[in-house]
Amino acid sequence: MQRKVGVVGLGYVGTTLAMFLCEKGLEVYGVDKKEEIITKVNQGVSHIKEAMIPELVQKYSSQGKLRVSTDMSIISDTDVVLVSVGTPLGEDYSPDMSAIEETSSELAKYLHEGHLVIFKSTVTPGTTEQTVLPILEKGSGLKSGRDFMLVYCPERLGEGSKMTDFRGSALEEVNTLPIVVGGINSQSTDAAAEFWHSLGINTIKVSSPKVAELAKLADNWWIDLNIAIANELALLCEKMQVDSYEVIEAANTLPKNRYNVNILLPGCGVGGSCLTKDPWFVYHLGKRFGLELKTCRLSREINDYMPKHMYDLVTQALEDIGKHIKKAKVSLLGLAFKQSTGDTRNTPAVPLIQLLVKNGAEVRVFDPWVEPEEARKIAGNYIVDTLEEALQDSDCLVLVNAQPEFRRISFSEIKSLVASPCAIVDGRRAFNSEEVISAGFTYWAVGLGKKSSGKEG
Ligand SMILES: NC(=O)c1ccc[n+]([C@@H]2O[C@H](COP(=O)([O-])OP(=O)(O)OC[C@H]3O[C@@H](n4cnc5c(N)ncnc54)[C@H](O)[C@@H]3O)[C@@H](O)[C@H]2O)c1
Repeated sequence: MQRKVGVVGLGYVGTTLAMFLCEKGLEVYGVDKKEEIITKVNQGVSHIKEAMIPELVQKYSSQGKLRVSTDMSIISDTDVVLVSVGTPLGEDYSPDMSAIEETSSELAKYLHEGHLVIFKSTVTPGTTEQTVLPILEKGSGLKSGRDFMLVYCPERLGEGSKMTDFRGSALEEVNTLPIVVGGINSQSTDAAAEFWHSLGINTIKVSSPKVAELAKLADNWWIDLNIAIANELALLCEKMQVDSYEVIEAANTLPKNRYNVNILLPGCGVGGSCLTKDPWFVYHLGKRFGLELKTCRLSREINDYMPKHMYDLVTQALEDIGKHIKKAKVSLLGLAFKQSTGDTRNTPAVPLIQLLVKNGAEVRVFDPWVEPEEARKIAGNYIVDTLEEALQDSDCLVLVNAQPEFRRISFSEIKSLVASPCAIVDGRRAFNSEEVISAGFTYWAVGLGKKSSGKEG
């Protein structure tokens, strides 16, 4: 079993990977170009807030199992290198692969015979073979597939649940999440599969890196489009005064080939770094081949509309209790794009805040998972430091993400803090509507509209 593993790019993916590898007893060498990340990790402080990660960074860094540096030379002593650097959208929404190129050039200097190199960043299909491989060979003087192994294994863990997903797959529990393995030759594929198996993780071997690269994009293309269907269904259900959740539950009982129909859940918007970006990778890939792919653009458009719909629900909920958006005190619970993470990239909270502020609402935002500095950077003076401050005299509580702290709110207890009357607008269906209503609030939700008391849903 390989004992020393390098992880290049210590963001959400790389830090979680590093923690998982430390848990498995491996020596981990982390590299990131950002000095501030390395300084923090060396002090035992995680720069990302994601379930379980801060505690693990603290633990493994203090035990010396995790060594980090901005200097790539620390990977020369490793057996395996995993690359998880960022691959953002460039101008015009096209993929920016510059970090992949930069990393490959730097990595090439420290490759040695027997190295297993696994790229995990989401890339434009073709990148491993057409970009990474020639850079690594030229810079190292080694032959890929013979002197070192080169593989693409997409990262498919969900944000906010990465560590549990990892542990789940390693324990071979029911919802195992296999790792797709596409090497540049069969020796590379086998070496990577063996590495993952040694950690207790199932693999799906595919015939080339290109297949694995495309499989990653196909996953997110499908997820974003599926959520778009759920969101449009939600809009329709609100108009028809039926509960979209009930419709989806019934619809999803239809077997279709090997699986059931699986419509995902609607919500107040899609955020994060992947679903908002990968459909654009697909779109630009299509263009390269003379195709004008429509579904990926459409899903982006539909899902980007949801914060505006959330704003419309807030105005309706306020009017329903005799209040107006102008000067209404509106409290946003949640700034991160989803629960159990502090990741604010492309969060639907931002367009929602902008709309509320533009229309005269007095906005307050609270999210215990987002670092205060980061929160102030993106939501400025609207940020408050405690849930109590957020709730004080509020006319409308708007749930943007279902952080555990929000799920635990007792509506009978907060009744005395908020204004009377007060409306709840639930963007994630995280609250118990009956509890909300019986405590004297009105309850509104995406894909439901206003819930009248006593009605199921
Ligand atoms: N976040 C997720 O849940 C998720 C899920 C699946 C796939 N992905 C993909 O994984 C990749 C990483 O995502 P992330 O969310 O961790 O991004 P991130 O922005 O949080 O982290 C990327 C890290 O790479 C570092 N980096 C960039 N260029 C570098 C270089 N040349 N050398 C060393 N370090 C460098 C950055 O400083 C940053 O810390 C992306 O391609 C993303 O699309 C992410």
